Amino acid sequence: MKVILKATIAVSTLVAATATAVPWGGADGWSKQEISVLSSLRLSQLEPPPRDYSNRYESDPRAAELGKHIFFDKRFSSNGAVSCASCHDPKQQFQDGRPLGLGVATGTRRTMPVAGAGYSPFLFWDGRKDSLWSQALGPLEDPAEHGGNRLAYAHILRAHYQSAYESVFGPLPDLTRLPREGSPIGNDRQRALWAGMGATDRDAVSRVFANMGKAIAAYEKTLQHGESRVDRYLEAVVKRDAGSYQELTPSEKNGLRVFIGKGQCVTCHNGPLLTDQHFHNTGIPQLSDAKRDLGRRSGIAKVAKDAFNCLGPFSDAGEEHCEELRFLAGEDHSLDAAFKTPSLRNVAARAPYMHAGQKRSLAEVIEHYRNAPAAKVGHSELSKITLSDQEARDLAEFLRSLDGPVQERSAGR
Ligand code: HEC
Ligand code: HEC
Repeated sequence: MKVILKATIAVSTLVAATATAVPWGGADGWSKQEISVLSSLRLSQLEPPPRDYSNRYESDPRAAELGKHIFFDKRFSSNGAVSCASCHDPKQQFQDGRPLGLGVATGTRRTMPVAGAGYSPFLFWDGRKDSLWSQALGPLEDPAEHGGNRLAYAHILRAHYQSAYESVFGPLPDLTRLPREGSPIGNDRQRALWAGMGATDRDAVSRVFANMGKAIAAYEKTLQHGESRVDRYLEAVVKRDAGSYQELTPSEKNGLRVFIGKGQCVTCHNGPLLTDQHFHNTGIPQLSDAKRDLGRRSGIAKVAKDAFNCLGPFSDAGEEHCEELRFLAGEDHSLDAAFKTPSLRNVAARAPYMHAGQKRSLAEVIEHYRNAPAAKVGHSELSKITLSDQEARDLAEFLRSLDGPVQERSAGR
């Protein structure tokens, strides 16, 4: 769990202010208030990812190296054909471009990009995990994703990664007397084998599993966004470097104006990652009326009782570093069908959009915001915005200019 800096600017007042602001010469026509919003979106303003006290290995380069191997290793799956990279493809900014994740079977949500996930206090579209390492354990035992189980993974680690593992985490437990498979959340057979083991063995195996997640998280933390044209333009505006004002076309600039102004996008998509890291109901249609997805509402219940959360036995954090979990909102209906605000960096290259790929293109996304339909489940927070067709096109152009590289940086802080 990490401590997230709360947004220091009241963005909603800025949105109101920018709508009436008088253009101000000197910085490509932006007003002072607009410039302060623009300045806050620059990648150079991104702090290093907050420290995760629940993972004491997160800055250990050897842990990151091991985690990278695991991330790409298909042996960690029930059919030997799925790794994290099957869905989080480095060639596609660590996602897959599908409406729904496809592993051992098809899932119910869309694959999320990984770069920048270390900034998020809660992971997944519904925030049902509170750290990168505990997140990584989810897909490994999910029957539709890797489909494997923690005891089988411990055996694989012992067979192929023993020295790399032990150099970071210390000796692996003696697994020779234990069954080949077993897990408290697996199929009937795996659960029975798990129940047949002693408590000490179960704890030791779960610890190996948790350490696997901690190694993966150390690797994921090295994945960071690089500059886009928007960042170069914003730097130019803030520094009044007129020579670089042409980094964006007039249409992209107009889209940016809509984004921070009448489009109200910056209310939720703010800061250098263009996300407030919160959960909102924006009235995106449910995939199925029969099986409703309550999003954050069910995520809250799950993270609170997750054995791998910040307050659990496998966390390295003291209670004082688990504020986000300790002060979790409870029975709040505004969380019904609320989903995490995604970062918009590189957004153009990862259609389809939303938590289950409901929108095929940026044009469809913008239509959704223009119409602001009522939610079928819970209440949409969106208010209707009035954009001309030209403004809608310009807004899409602006979103396309947010493309930049995803880079691996050295572990260590
Ligand atoms: C079958 C495809 C698939 C596989 C395999 C898979 N993921 Fe994912 N990943 C997804 C989907 C789908 C989501 C969103 C799921 C949800 O919200 O319920 C997701 C979400 C995430 C997130 C959350 C990002 C955020 O901003 O909250 C991270 C991090 C992540 N995966 C890392 C991993 C790691 C590490 C592995 C391997 C241990 C892995 N994934 C394996 C499909 C996959
Ligand atoms: C009330 C907060 C809020 C506002 C205002 C808002 N968004 Fe979003 N945005 C979200 C959330 C939450 C999601 C994910 C919703 C889901 O999947 O159910 C999202 C998703 C998106 C996506 C899809 C990204 C992806 O990877 O799937 C795009 C693009 C986007 N928003 C652009 C915009 C634009 C452009 C505006 C302004 C017209 C805007 N948003 C206004 C909260 C907001």
